[in-house]
Amino acid sequence: MAINAIEWWKQAVVYQVYPRSFRDADGDGLGDIRGVTAGIDYLAELGIDAIWLSPFYPSELADGGYDVIDYRAVDPRLGTLDDFDELIAAAHAHYIRVIVDIVPNHTSNKHRFFQAALAAGPGSSERERYIFRPGRGEHGELPPNGWMSCFGGSAWERVEDGEWYLHLFAAEQPDLNWQHPDVREEFERTLRFWCDRGVDGFRVDVAHALAKDLTSRPLDELDQAPKQGSGNADNPLWDRPEVHEIYRSWRRIFNEYEPPRFAVAEAWVTPDHQRLYASPDELGQVFNFEFAKADWYAADFRRAIEEGLACAEDSGSTSTWVLSNHDVPRHATRYGLPQVKAKVHHQFVNDWLLRDGATYTEDRALGTKRARAALLMEMALPGSAYIYQGEELGLFEVANIPWDRLEDPQARRTCHGDALKGRDGCRVPLPWVASDMPAPAAWDGSFGDGDTASFGFSAPATGVARADKTAAPHLPQPLWFVEHAVDRLDAEPGSMLNLYRRILALRHELLTSTGDTSLTWWGADELGISAEQALEVIAYARPAAGGKTLVSITNFGAHELALPDGEVLVSSEPLTGALGQDASVWMLLG
Ligand code: NOJ
Repeated sequence: MAINAIEWWKQAVVYQVYPRSFRDADGDGLGDIRGVTAGIDYLAELGIDAIWLSPFYPSELADGGYDVIDYRAVDPRLGTLDDFDELIAAAHAHYIRVIVDIVPNHTSNKHRFFQAALAAGPGSSERERYIFRPGRGEHGELPPNGWMSCFGGSAWERVEDGEWYLHLFAAEQPDLNWQHPDVREEFERTLRFWCDRGVDGFRVDVAHALAKDLTSRPLDELDQAPKQGSGNADNPLWDRPEVHEIYRSWRRIFNEYEPPRFAVAEAWVTPDHQRLYASPDELGQVFNFEFAKADWYAADFRRAIEEGLACAEDSGSTSTWVLSNHDVPRHATRYGLPQVKAKVHHQFVNDWLLRDGATYTEDRALGTKRARAALLMEMALPGSAYIYQGEELGLFEVANIPWDRLEDPQARRTCHGDALKGRDGCRVPLPWVASDMPAPAAWDGSFGDGDTASFGFSAPATGVARADKTAAPHLPQPLWFVEHAVDRLDAEPGSMLNLYRRILALRHELLTSTGDTSLTWWGADELGISAEQALEVIAYARPAAGGKTLVSITNFGAHELALPDGEVLVSSEPLTGALGQDASVWMLLG
């Protein structure tokens, strides 16, 4: 497809790069921009349409880079703007688009705006760029109200002169006041800056939190910690109606470019509100996290798909499908643990992580089997699919990272309160090279030492100045990574990596190429099974190239499923004539 095709993002496969853990070109143990450039051939062969780069901006890493010090620069540890330009050029030369992460709800406390706010003092215009308030109590020693930050603890932090500022995330991430014209201007400049450098789109962090109203009632009457989710106009923090005016103004900027840019909103709101963010006069697309939240139950996935498709239709956009990202435990692990219905999504796996993965045995063979089946269920759906780095290698969550090596503030702030181990287990640097290493005899949870040479994560890229000595990767890699390294999987025809390559190639050739986004559910009649058995099956048909029909079938149930007449294109497991439990197949009919 030509690089300037309009609305390419509506049916794209986007690969999320967490830059500090993708590939390290200069040997300092931290992934970098040149490492991503060095991986472009690999990504092109994988068959993706775009990469989304999680933040690579200067940051003190109080929240994995989501505490941005300068929105229009590259963290010197990760490279330079010239490196970024080279990455864009290399990606575009391979018809891969580039999406960057914009973090508009909060800055780093080291951002020049916040430093100016501290220096200027109470009552200043500089302070109004953030949300400062006096404290309660005789000497203002109590926070303005009892709101909790998403990472635990109070959402208010006191500064030296006694005022308090709001931070919905870490204390190093003060929330911006979007009613201040400087804030709007800062982000408009930032959007234009990256568009002018050739980026093709944006991922908008916490998109549903920008508009806040702390004036409707006295702050201490708003003492109930407001929950994320779809607000009504009464919710002072989340999903307020005024947020959409901001995105309409961004749309005007996106439309100044040819082709118009787009953005995908990270908005943890109910599906009926998602469509607003995704509408063509706002960002264009929104993440549908219902898919990533679903446990391994057919009914949960069916509902997630139905809601995603309905939201897409309402918004005039297309849906997005996500199995994993840098915020949730890897899905090969989630599907390999006991499936337990809980009020809060991922509760079981989060509890298991809290105990370093020691409470239940993770059934890795089952997790892998289901992850393979999930890929076929996901990739024939209309809309865009977002892959998280390493899922194509079948990586599991690294559950037993020593607590003193954790980087995620979720762990530091809540380990004695709400208790989460945090998100580092899915952010461990990727394994690239291991073909010359023996597989460990048994899984003992050990971590690689100097001998594993970081599984090729710190690999020299041509022309890059190397650190004197290659440092250890910033998060420890377990020895079992040996079996997931790119070079090993590349050589195994049936590996997860080769399954991803085959599926993405077929998706392009047979589905995306038609431009037809319709989907027809297949139920008991089409499959020739009982209504009861059909509850355990997800099957749908899509129009395919050459006037044919592609049918994707996933069997969650224990009963084998006879295949319809047609050509088997690919299956997640070797077929023995019928489709067994936790397996999927793509068939071509007509
Ligand atoms: C959502 C990001 O995905 C997450 O990693 C981050 O911690 C929060 N937003 C705060 O920026």
